[in-house]
Amino acid sequence: MHAEVATATATAAAAAARSMPLPEEPDPRMPRLAGSPGFREFMLQGWGEADRTPVMADGAAEAAARHRDRLSVAFSGEVLAIVAGRAPMRVNDNAHEFRADSDFLWLAGAAVEDAVLVLEPRAGGHDATLYLPAPFRPGDEGFFADPLRGELWVGPMPGLAEWADALGVRTRPIEALELPGGALIAGTVPTTGPSAIIAARPRSAELARVLAELRMVKDDWELAELGAAVDTTVDGFAATALEIPNAVRRGGERWLQGTFDRHARTFGAGTGYASIVGSGAHAPVLHWVRAEGAVDPEALLLLDLGVERRSGYTADVTRTLPASGTFSTVQREVHDLVEASHRAGLAAVGPGRDWTDFHTACMEVLARGLADWGLLPVSVDEALSPQGQQHRRFIVCGVGHHLGIDVHDCSSASHAAYQGARMQPGMVLTVEPGLYFHAFDETLPPELRGVGVRLEDDVVVTPTGSEVLSNGLPIDAAGVEAWMARLR
Ligand code: GLY
Ligand code: MN
Ligand code: MN
Repeated sequence: MHAEVATATATAAAAAARSMPLPEEPDPRMPRLAGSPGFREFMLQGWGEADRTPVMADGAAEAAARHRDRLSVAFSGEVLAIVAGRAPMRVNDNAHEFRADSDFLWLAGAAVEDAVLVLEPRAGGHDATLYLPAPFRPGDEGFFADPLRGELWVGPMPGLAEWADALGVRTRPIEALELPGGALIAGTVPTTGPSAIIAARPRSAELARVLAELRMVKDDWELAELGAAVDTTVDGFAATALEIPNAVRRGGERWLQGTFDRHARTFGAGTGYASIVGSGAHAPVLHWVRAEGAVDPEALLLLDLGVERRSGYTADVTRTLPASGTFSTVQREVHDLVEASHRAGLAAVGPGRDWTDFHTACMEVLARGLADWGLLPVSVDEALSPQGQQHRRFIVCGVGHHLGIDVHDCSSASHAAYQGARMQPGMVLTVEPGLYFHAFDETLPPELRGVGVRLEDDVVVTPTGSEVLSNGLPIDAAGVEAWMARLR
C-alpha cells in the first residue's frame, strides 16, 4: 500500500477505535468478535464491583480548596475555566502518561484527564464544578470497546461520584459544559478529546499571569510537599551514586539516569524533568538529557535530578561528583570556585532581598575567579558591567528560578512580579551557579577543557532568612568525597 494511504487508514482506524458507538465495520485490529451480537450481549453483563477510589496526595483536596479561594478573590464576579489537558499521543494511538496542567493541579488537587474546572461567581466567592468524561463501565459498550476510557482496557477509573467525594467539588459530565462568552480560560486545552470543545476559544493571559503570581508564595502544605520531593531526591542521589562502578563498567550515563528514574518512579510519581547525567565532556552541557555516553572514572559526573510527587511538586537538585570518589586538583579548584559562588548566592536569599541579589552575588564571585585564572579578555569590572558580561561565556544560563509544581515555576508571572520583585517568605527557589568549560573551547587551557560543575540547592525564603531543603547533600568538595566514601 502507498505509504500516505497506509498512514491515513491507520489514523482513521485509530480514531474509530477510540470513538463510540462500535463501528459498523469492525477495525480488523480489534478483537474479531467485537461487532458480533453474541459477543456484545455476553460482554454487557456479569461484571462485579471494583475499587475506584482516586489515589491522591494527602491534604491535596483541602489545599486546592484554599488555592481556589485565593483565586476567587482576584477574579470576583468572573467565570473561570481551567483545563486539565490530555495525554499527548506518542505514536499513532499509543499515549504518553498523563500529566495534568500545573494550574489545574494547583486548583483541583488531582490529575483528572480531559477535565475542566469551572469557577462560577456567587455572592462572596465562586462555586467550583469539575466537568469530566465518565469512564466506560460494565453495562456500557465502551467498557470493552474504548481503549482510552473503557475500564477493561485501562483499569477501574474514578468517575463523577468518586471525584466529587475525593475533591469536595460538584462534578458534571464534560458533555454538559457550556461556558459564557466572557469566561476566562486557562490551562492546557487539547485539540482532541472531550475538552477540545473549547479549543477554539482564546485563553486569558491575565488569568495565567495571576495564577503564576499566586503560586509564587507556597503555603505550609506546599512546603511539606516540596520538602518531601527533595528528601526523596536526596535518597535518589545516593542510589544513583552507588551505581557509579556499574556505570563505569558497562551501563554508562544511561545506567545512572535509569537508576534515578526508577527511584523517582517508585518513590514518587516520576521525575520533574528529564534527568541530566553528564560525564566528562558532557558535564558542561546544560541540558545533557541524552545520556548516551560512557562514565569516565577519572572525570567529573554532573547529576541534575528531581523527584516529582503525585501532587506535582518537584525537586531540582544538582551535584557534581568525581566518579572516582576523589577530586583531582583541577576539578577541586573549579568545584571550590562554584561552591564559593553558591555560598554567596545562598547568603543573598532572604525576605525583602531583591530577586536579582543572589544572581549578582553568584556572578561576581565567578567573574573574579575567572579573572584570577586569566580566562577573561577584560578586567573584572568591565566583565561585570552591563556592556561586558564576558564571564557569561562560561555560564550562559541563569543561576536560579522559582520552584514548585513546575520545575521552572511561575513562568507566566510578569517581570515586575518575578525578576523585578523582592523575595517574600514562602517563596521557593533554586540557587544553581556553575562553570561550564566546554571540551572544544579553544580559549581555555587544556586542563580545563571538558570540566563542568554545577551546584544546585532548593531554598525556601523564611520570615527570618532562608532554609536549604537539599542540605542532606554536601556542597564542599571534602564533604562530597566523604559522602561518596560513606556510601561505598
Ligand atoms: N534541571 C533544570 C534546571 O536546573 O533548571
Ligand atoms: Mn536542575
Ligand atoms: Mn534548576
